[in-house]
Amino acid sequence: MDNYPRLFIKAGLMYALLGAALGVTIAVDPSLAVRLRFVHIHVNLLGFMTMMVAGVAFHVLPRFSARKLPWPAGMKYQFIFQNTGLLGMVTLHAVGGWQGGLAHAAFVFFAILAGIAFAIMFYNLYFVLSAPEETPKPEKITGEMKVAEVLDHFPQALSLFLESGFQSLANPAARQTFAKVVSIDKACEKHSVNTTEFVEKLNREIFKTNSPSDNENTNLGREISRGEKCQADTWVGSLVKAYPTTKKVFESHYGEGCFSCPGQAFETVEQTASMHNVDPELILKEINNEIDKESNPS
Ligand code: HEM
Ligand code: HEM
Repeated sequence: MDNYPRLFIKAGLMYALLGAALGVTIAVDPSLAVRLRFVHIHVNLLGFMTMMVAGVAFHVLPRFSARKLPWPAGMKYQFIFQNTGLLGMVTLHAVGGWQGGLAHAAFVFFAILAGIAFAIMFYNLYFVLSAPEETPKPEKITGEMKVAEVLDHFPQALSLFLESGFQSLANPAARQTFAKVVSIDKACEKHSVNTTEFVEKLNREIFKTNSPSDNENTNLGREISRGEKCQADTWVGSLVKAYPTTKKVFESHYGEGCFSCPGQAFETVEQTASMHNVDPELILKEINNEIDKESNPS
């Protein structure tokens, strides 16, 4: 989990403790409500509830929608502004006299900070959910198409790009950035790849296995059942279903977040290895060792 989602959740939990302690205090001595009611309400709602929701949403929504937060650094500013705003407001309110003079100016300042924090949160969470513009699936690949356009519609083409010399596409950041603006023609020119041959290869491979029914099983890979060995083109999703203990091989090489990625099920073992710059042979050997261990427990 990233640093800021974790910090939001931890801070939220601290406010939950504080909010509950304040609630109990008011319950014991209701005369304290005059001073502490505002503090109790805002520590619970602006601190505990909002920060918990924000922390969980920052972790889950980008994975759920397979998009990056529109402004990741905004999480840091939101965290600072929301905590400062909240603590400033509740302190001034509890001390009293917040409705006049200098204390009021300070209260307004903290209220604005908290307000800005909400606006940043809105921006990040609202726009992470906006789906990319839907474009119809192309029936044929042409040299003028952008690299990312091909990969968006036909994720299985990634291995063809990688094996044809476009290694930089192994990096997801590259697929999100320059692949969106560079056409296949331009990319071939830059990497000294024969455009006509490459476009022909893409069309041949993509449309050979891609039935018009457009189901997911048209990826360039294969299923595996128990009793079989893993191959370079075995789908990761199918593998971990047949042999659950192989999951730890991927986690040891790619990190624990690996299985939260929505694309993993229909990526082949080889594709994941090249994406993570790991030798596919090494991964395959370790996976088959696990399969042997699972098949002959002794
Ligand atoms: C141990 C937990 C809690 C205790 C003992 C507690 C206690 C209280 C008490 C005694 C009041 C009345 C204050 C008054 O006289 O004006 C109150 C009000 C309030 N509490 Fe809590 N509370 C707890 C948790 C929470 C939580 C978790 C939330 C929100 C997530 C919350 C939200 C509120 C709100 C919004 C009010 C104001 C209600 C109104 O306007 O009538 N409380 N709480
Ligand atoms: C930008 C953030 C916020 C600011 C600047 C802010 C400010 C204020 C102010 C100035 C009051 C009036 C206090 C008084 O008259 O003593 C108030 C009351 C209240 N606020 Fe907020 N608030 C914020 C966020 C929230 C959120 C997120 C919630 C709930 C989800 C909330 C729930 C309430 C409630 C229930 C009251 C009534 C309290 C009472 O009955 O005494 N506020 N807020």
